[in-house]
Amino acid sequence: MKEKLEMIKATVLEELKIATIKEELENIRVKYLGKKGELTQILRGMGQLSNEERPIVGKIANEVRSDIESLITKASDILKNNKKEMELKSEIIDISMPGIKQTVGKRHPLDLTLEKVNDIFLSMGFAIEEGPEVERDYYNFEALNIPKNHPARGEQDTFYINDSIVLRTQTSPVQIRTMEIQKPPIKMISPGKVYRSDAADATHSPIFYQIEGLVVDKGITFSDLKGTLAAFTQKMFGDEMETKFRPHHFPFTEPSAEMDATCFVCKGKGCSVCKGSGWIELLGCGMVHPDVLRNCGIDPEVYSGFAFGFGLDRITMLKYGIDDIRALYESDMRFLKQF
Ligand code: DAH
Repeated sequence: MKEKLEMIKATVLEELKIATIKEELENIRVKYLGKKGELTQILRGMGQLSNEERPIVGKIANEVRSDIESLITKASDILKNNKKEMELKSEIIDISMPGIKQTVGKRHPLDLTLEKVNDIFLSMGFAIEEGPEVERDYYNFEALNIPKNHPARGEQDTFYINDSIVLRTQTSPVQIRTMEIQKPPIKMISPGKVYRSDAADATHSPIFYQIEGLVVDKGITFSDLKGTLAAFTQKMFGDEMETKFRPHHFPFTEPSAEMDATCFVCKGKGCSVCKGSGWIELLGCGMVHPDVLRNCGIDPEVYSGFAFGFGLDRITMLKYGIDDIRALYESDMRFLKQF
């Protein structure tokens, strides 16, 4: 009997060694000390022992019982401590770790230029108009005197949605939309995205920005066009800027011109940006073609107007010395952080 009790104690000790969770300890307790536990059974069978054996075995059995109880308590304390230790470890905050940097965004260079352009024209009394980027062929081409098979269509490689709907290749359709719903005097600019089916390289992007301008009223002349655009150029790039106009052709203006401005990198002396000429090409412009006015229900005998259009990207690139248009659309923070 004595050996059996010692055996039980040894087994309990072994089982406790491998117990890792609270539930396992409870199972061990039930297995040995529970109502039907092995030790409990033995204590119950004591009645059958002789009078001499009973106190001896009883003493040992009670000792083993309290040994087992204290072993289980000890094991349970160890488990609790381990658990706490692990919790503490997992919650440790290493105050020497670098913090999470809060970065502040920056304005995109195109946005900075656009804001300045808008401010200048708003100060001259222009309104800002908007038009859709998915545009009817009629507004993008037909109403601007560019019928089907006109060579000007070839110069603007177009993304067609279907036969009559395109991604606008220019902001000029906003001229038509504005004249259709507003009666002169009209004085507006319209900045926005345009699309052309060009492969991207340093000077081409399938998406870029244009700013359109339109003034229609009684008695508007080419002098108004020249004065307005010269004033814009000086406010945008500096008072010392000069402008000159070269004859050109656009289907929706007559006469048409391209405007050059003093190269603002070399101030006209000649450099690599202006290819030694001292001038840089800034925009296309002209007097609104009488047919275009007529297409919008405006009588060219009563009213006249001028229009102009330029690339926001080109101006931004010239202003900031950016030599690749793709940089404006790639969202590379190393580039964008510089502005
Ligand atoms: N829409 C023309 C283009 O994309 C630019 C332009 C030229 C607009 C002359 C005008 C203008 O309003 O009068 O090439």
